[in-house]
Amino acid sequence: MTLSVGWLSALAVGVFSALVLQKLCFPYFWREFFFMLKLVRFGVKLELSDLTSSICTVLDKFIEQAQRTPNKPFVIYDGNIHTYRDIDQRSNRLAGVFLERVKLRKGDCVALLMSNEPDFLCVWFGLKKVGCLVAFLNTNIKSKSLLHCFNCCGAKTLIVGSGKASDLMEHVDSLLEDNIQVWAMTSQSENPRVHTLLDKIQGASDQPVPAVLRATTSLRSPTLYIFTSGSTGLPKAAVITHRQCLFATVGLWAFGATADDVVYIALPLYHSAASLIGIGGTIELGATCILKKKFSASQFWNDCRKHNVTVFQYIGELCRYLCNQPKTEMDKVHKVRLGVGNGLRPDVWREFHRRFGDIKMCEVYGSTEGNLCLMNHFGKIGTVGRSSFFNKLLFSFDLVKYDTEKDEPVRDQYGFCQRVKRGETGLLLSKVSTSNPFFGYAGSKQLTEKKLTRNVFRKGDAYFNTGDLMAEDQESFMYFRDRMGDTFRWKGENVATTEVAETLAPVDFIQEVNVYGVEVPGMAEHRAGMSAMTLRPGLTFDGKKLHEFVMRDLPAYARPLFIRLQEALEMTSTFKQQKFKLVQSGFNPSAISDPLYVLDYLQKSYVPLTDSIYQRILAGEHRL
Ligand SMILES: *[C@@H]1O[C@H](CO)[C@@H](O)[C@H](O)[C@H]1NC(C)=O
Repeated sequence: MTLSVGWLSALAVGVFSALVLQKLCFPYFWREFFFMLKLVRFGVKLELSDLTSSICTVLDKFIEQAQRTPNKPFVIYDGNIHTYRDIDQRSNRLAGVFLERVKLRKGDCVALLMSNEPDFLCVWFGLKKVGCLVAFLNTNIKSKSLLHCFNCCGAKTLIVGSGKASDLMEHVDSLLEDNIQVWAMTSQSENPRVHTLLDKIQGASDQPVPAVLRATTSLRSPTLYIFTSGSTGLPKAAVITHRQCLFATVGLWAFGATADDVVYIALPLYHSAASLIGIGGTIELGATCILKKKFSASQFWNDCRKHNVTVFQYIGELCRYLCNQPKTEMDKVHKVRLGVGNGLRPDVWREFHRRFGDIKMCEVYGSTEGNLCLMNHFGKIGTVGRSSFFNKLLFSFDLVKYDTEKDEPVRDQYGFCQRVKRGETGLLLSKVSTSNPFFGYAGSKQLTEKKLTRNVFRKGDAYFNTGDLMAEDQESFMYFRDRMGDTFRWKGENVATTEVAETLAPVDFIQEVNVYGVEVPGMAEHRAGMSAMTLRPGLTFDGKKLHEFVMRDLPAYARPLFIRLQEALEMTSTFKQQKFKLVQSGFNPSAISDPLYVLDYLQKSYVPLTDSIYQRILAGEHRL
């Protein structure tokens, strides 16, 4: 008896100390373990459904949800409630019209050009009910890229939202010439060759079309094309399979959201974040979403209070806009508890917590087309997730040494890449395999091949090149450092533009800042640091103060040499800072109407950049 008690207590002490040791050495172990367990269980179920051909797509999930909770609000838009049944029935009507009037057939590809509105979902689901592939077009699309988009995904039909129909009219002729039929979500059309849909839905039946039309036999068959914005050049059509859609839809659930949550979606639906993580996530949970046509920083918190929003989707810039709003005593009065998104910079992240309280911010790292996804479910500031043991079981990725000058990975004497040491910045590559496939871009083998890096660690292997430079800390947390190409070289040193921007952010008169490198004539291989910035309302640019700041906080090579004051910083359509145009326009004061300043070490200040200084820089008489 005594013996067994002694043995038991020894065991208990042993287990206890093992747990303590584990807590000390691996404080994130269990949180990671349970999080991953959730995902792995989901993944296993998914693969089993593929083997047994009982795949439940996102659309199937929606239809099930509409049967389970028909009267539950699914989308609230502009103050109007659309229940699960409403959206289901309207998409049935549309599916009927697509079959009978538009003569669409299973497997056809249809392009969708609509802004955020409930009908975006009805048309999307209606098309999927008929078994069509759907290509989401960016609503900012320019005429030049429009035809290109049709060519890459092979769409022969375009459906235009009511608001977009008039914008499109000038391009309609070229579409029609290419034998693309155009259908608008309107009742009347000025152009007799543009067909109308709204009038036809009215009389259509709200009964479902045959389920066999939407059935799919493989998780790996494409279901959507989503265009990703190339920073230069034409958009690329990423091929999205059912499997990717289904994984994206469990994001909110994995972060702990439930059917009782109210999800705020103000990002454009033509991107995967809003359509798959946001709408798909709402369906997976059986929750309600507040859909916004556009994000508005001044309306955001009022909306959240009005609708009891608990979860919102962000990109870093949105949080920055929110922090830049005037403070009010209502700032912390809301029920928002979770933010899901990406690109939140550490300074904004901290400020966001200070202003709006304890909202768990979960960063999701992964591109639409990529084969890697990292999730920071810890809410740990500044990181995109953890390169843990469990994560490595699911995804195989590595950080490799990167040559910023050549814009490519460093190769050793045998032609292979080298892993960076912990703490060092490297290029993130993700191995392409059967469990983590890369489906590439529709209509272009060449673009697909360009995203791949081959022979990385051995002959014949292939990795998806994320184009992101990251570093991993001692606790295996991953930190975003820079976008490939967002680093430039000056006087033999690499300048990481986002790092400089983050350092400048605390300067009191700066509202927003964008750092980039400009070419100086006569110094071909170098880029001089330049920073475009906007000023906080009521404050003025103080060259002396900025000089003092950069001298203290930035190494010599990283100090911006030129400053460009702007009324507003230009953003790309995905709210990323527009650098390309700024780089192109350079620093010539006679060509730029914005106020320009140059760093002057003698006067210990940033002084206005005059024509004569500019000429002396070109002549090499003014030392930079
Ligand atoms: C929000 O929550 C409050 C209190 O829980 C409740 O009284 C109110 O009706 C809710 N509003 C909406 C739009 O659900």
